[in-house]
Amino acid sequence: MAKKDIDWSNLGFAYMPTEARYVSNYKNGAWDDGEITGDSNVVINECACVLQYAQTCFEGLKAYTTEDGHIVTFRPDLNAERMVNSAIRLEMPVFPQERFMDALEKVVKANADYVPPYGSGATLYIRPFMFGSNAVIGVKPADEYQFRMFVTPVGPYFKGGAKPISVRISDLDRAAPHGTGHIKAGLNYAMSLYNIVDAHKAGFDENIYLDPQTRTKIEETGGANILFVTKDEELIVPKSDSILPSITRRSLVEVAETYLGLKVTEREVTLAEVEDFAECGLCGTAAVISPVGKINDHGREICFPSGMEEMGPVTKKLYDTLTGIQMGRLEAPKGWIHVIE
Ligand code: PLP
Ligand code: COI
Repeated sequence: MAKKDIDWSNLGFAYMPTEARYVSNYKNGAWDDGEITGDSNVVINECACVLQYAQTCFEGLKAYTTEDGHIVTFRPDLNAERMVNSAIRLEMPVFPQERFMDALEKVVKANADYVPPYGSGATLYIRPFMFGSNAVIGVKPADEYQFRMFVTPVGPYFKGGAKPISVRISDLDRAAPHGTGHIKAGLNYAMSLYNIVDAHKAGFDENIYLDPQTRTKIEETGGANILFVTKDEELIVPKSDSILPSITRRSLVEVAETYLGLKVTEREVTLAEVEDFAECGLCGTAAVISPVGKINDHGREICFPSGMEEMGPVTKKLYDTLTGIQMGRLEAPKGWIHVIE
């Protein structure tokens, strides 16, 4: 298939409709067979549970063109598994993991000409999601659902790509203890919209959320987990029950230990100790690893020694190793790379 005529190297993180997406509907207690469709519009009742009570969850993963020309995805089984956990917490029917993998195969193959070429700096972002589609007015789960998976070619999530970003400590909360922070529910993002607009107005790229109970511990940002590197090159990963179990973060922990021989500690991280760290980064499918140059805590600037021009040295090693695995330049741990074609 001929690649689409797209200026791959100048893509931002934006939605571009393609000709094919996967759809399956749930009715009378069962998912239908599912199909690829050209229709990017969803028509649902005004009282659909998703519209009234935000009964929706989603995932995000990417397809890459490897150095030797294959199209691959990265640990999609973990996205399928996390979506099961999200569905259960939101009282939605589970979309079976093998069906998720089948949908992924079909949708990426149908959009092979949208998978950015190797070396272009762009990737194909894949967005699986599901929602309660029939009318409910009392607060209860829907009986009917739709699962969809669409794709869109994307560039870097943060403007400037690998340039360090500037983030602020948020006064608003993201996820309550025992709430929904650990699943990928649309509602977690709805509540962050006011805050991200406000952060951008104030000149920051993202918000760092603290634990709502004590407001002393680092949780995560609106769309990525956080990593720190100590002055003696130890990777520190904040631990909390109310942050999303990022697949990128879990992979980086393994990469740091097994590929780079770094010590890794997952533990609670207090805001008070952040000024002692040497490097900071945001990690996620969209963010990959975005270096953080400074954190603004209510006017107090915490500037990392790596500065605002370049990634810190350990962050760079993590970035190069992870993307090397994803793009087929480095051998991947068993099961991490799922070849589509
Ligand atoms: N945290 C939040 C709130 C996110 O939205 C994401 C994105 O998916 C992540 C973390 C990173 O997760 P992953 O690495 O699985 O994409
Ligand atoms: C992702 O990294 O896939 C995300 O979902 C983050 C953001 C685009 C919401």
